[in-house]
Amino acid sequence: MFNALVLEESAGVVTHAVRSVDDAALPAGDVTVAVEYTTVNYKDGLVMGGAGGLVKRYPHVPGIDFCGTVIESQHAKYRPGERVILTGWRVGETQWGGYAARARVNGDWLVPLPSALSARQAMAIGTAGFTAMLAVMALEDHGLTPPGGEVLVTGAAGGVGSVATALLAALGYHVTASTGRADAHEYLKTLGASQVIDRTLFADPARKPLEGERWAGCIDSVGGNTFARVLAQLKYGGSIAAVGLAGGSKVDTTVIPFLLRGVNVLGIDSVMCPMPRRLSAWRRLCADLPLAKLEQFTLDATFADLPQLAADIVRGQVRGRVAVRVSHPI
Ligand SMILES: NC(=O)c1ccc[n+]([C@@H]2O[C@H](COP(=O)([O-])OP(=O)(O)OC[C@H]3O[C@@H](n4cnc5c(N)ncnc54)[C@H](OP(=O)(O)O)[C@@H]3O)[C@@H](O)[C@H]2O)c1
Repeated sequence: MFNALVLEESAGVVTHAVRSVDDAALPAGDVTVAVEYTTVNYKDGLVMGGAGGLVKRYPHVPGIDFCGTVIESQHAKYRPGERVILTGWRVGETQWGGYAARARVNGDWLVPLPSALSARQAMAIGTAGFTAMLAVMALEDHGLTPPGGEVLVTGAAGGVGSVATALLAALGYHVTASTGRADAHEYLKTLGASQVIDRTLFADPARKPLEGERWAGCIDSVGGNTFARVLAQLKYGGSIAAVGLAGGSKVDTTVIPFLLRGVNVLGIDSVMCPMPRRLSAWRRLCADLPLAKLEQFTLDATFADLPQLAADIVRGQVRGRVAVRVSHPI
């Protein structure tokens, strides 16, 4: 038996409780992991609140990522005692996830915990940080370099935004952070933003297909009008990495920026990201994300804090990242 945060649904209302669960209830998979740390991402907030139609079957154990120690394995690559990270693959959505002391998954989805990181640091990075790294890599693949000009990070005080700001600054970029939180300006400067601007600048619908050229690149967690406005402000040949929809999924725009400025929209998907790209992203995180900065934006929390954190994150009230201790290492 192990403890898990279990969601139940009745008449469209999703409730949660910590329950003792039998190992036999774990999903099919060839690797069983004793979970040491998990975290809270925007999608966890949606799942916990029963929003977004992400979970089709209840009872359900949420948690889209976790880090822990292999306790049983039929997979050729993993042996008991090895430490692993899981992000994505729809774990925590279509199958039980990391808000539990035990998780069972397909071993092909796991990434070995890099020796440079603790389980806590891996989950302080988590899906949000991994996605920020994928976005930086995509921008670089499309020619972004520090001399190219200002890079905008939207939703900057959130999880993806905080990691993106710290990463880009450490790589030598001039980072402009956009936030709706007046009290986060100093925080974002400590992470390395050269400039902090208010997100209301992007809140209104675009009135013209092209605005003044400003951004060499952008990592956008917000979507909606913000995405449309930034697209119209990209410099010639610039790129926007489309990561999130915290401000809306619908975009009203024109093809003019593509035709007249040769700009690029780079779709970022962390969930089904192929393994070679995953391993490169974790290698890059170890090399490029200063761990002292990671500490500055990581809040430690316990299993009991998860429901409140999940509610807070969808309201945009979690700053940076959260490392949630599940159980002690075995
Ligand atoms: N593509 C992928 O694979 C992938 C992976 C991870 C996350 N995501 C998506 O990326 C987004 C960010 O995830 P996260 O975990 O970083 O969430 P988060 O910590 O909640 O960050 C989102 C940030 O967006 C801003 N925001 C929230 N509501 C807004 C609104 N109505 N208008 C404008 N800005 C708003 C806030 O930043 P400020 O307070 O600074 O304004 C908030 O902190 C989510 O949409 C998530 O689903 C996608």
